[in-house]
Amino acid sequence: MSSYHVSVLLDESIRGLNIDPEGVYVDVTFGAGGHSKEILKKLKSGSLIAFDQDVDSESNLLQDDRLVFVRHNFRYMKNHLKVNGFPKVDGILADLGVSSHQFDVGERGFSTRFDGRLDMRMDQDSSLTAAVIVNEYDEVALQRVFTEGADLKNSKLLIQKIVDARNVKRIESTSELKEVLSGMTHPSKVAQFLARVFQALRIEVNEELGALKALLDQAKDVLKPGGRLVVISYHSIEDRMVKNYIKSGNFEGVLQKDLYGNVNRPFAPINRKVIMPNEDEIKDNSRARSAKLRIAERLHE
Ligand SMILES: C[S@@+](CC[C@H](N)C(=O)[O-])C[C@H]1O[C@@H](n2cnc3c(N)ncnc32)[C@H](O)[C@@H]1O
Repeated sequence: MSSYHVSVLLDESIRGLNIDPEGVYVDVTFGAGGHSKEILKKLKSGSLIAFDQDVDSESNLLQDDRLVFVRHNFRYMKNHLKVNGFPKVDGILADLGVSSHQFDVGERGFSTRFDGRLDMRMDQDSSLTAAVIVNEYDEVALQRVFTEGADLKNSKLLIQKIVDARNVKRIESTSELKEVLSGMTHPSKVAQFLARVFQALRIEVNEELGALKALLDQAKDVLKPGGRLVVISYHSIEDRMVKNYIKSGNFEGVLQKDLYGNVNRPFAPINRKVIMPNEDEIKDNSRARSAKLRIAERLHE
């Protein structure tokens, strides 16, 4: 098992890609390369294009002529595929969110368990950090961040606490933020509350919802008819976006019909019900517990 990251729903997601050994596949979230390795095992003369925006993931690269690695945000997938000579592909896999490695390196600021700078960038070259959000966003922007990313009931009080504290002194570290928010919830709920606050900040820092929207829209353009879209998400906002997009081709989930009442949509779901890890997988890997897998097939135009 990799200490960098243990792949989630590995068999189910690879099966969902329905791999053609001569086909072209995209793993937009390379991480430790667990899913990519399985794809390569099933390819003969096919190709795999892998993306990851985190420079650390390059330490997991595999020596394989069939693999092209792109260290960039997957929101630019379509352009990179074209530039690399793969304008159309047979399957796209996205295993969203952060890797265990990113959580486990305390100084990157993703985890409530360690003290570190309020950073939370997956792409170390980008300029927006959690410290910028906490110290420089106005109250309206903070309200959006905590509503969109965490759906927190007491976000008004949370924002007030942040604003009062930063008026005295900039909040620079994860432990300073935790201190500012102390006493806001019942002691038995502190870990859960902080996890949601950190999740909301991380989603904003990395523009995760915008990147996912761009990815889904581009998946429609680059997948060949019959090609597979396989997405593993870890929170309800993302899963709702994926579910709606697969159902209708838009993020609201509204079916578009032509004059004759036929539904126009780019994808058909392969699994009607969302796929979740079984108890054994969750027992072995607690990070799998919130995973939700959806698989869809690109329809003919
Ligand atoms: C859950 S891990 C993937 C683990 C991988 N499937 C494996 O089996 O090792 C998610 C990875 O995707 C990367 N990532 C997340 N959002 C991204 C984005 N918008 N563009 C590029 N990489 C992204 C993260 O840096 C992280 O390494």
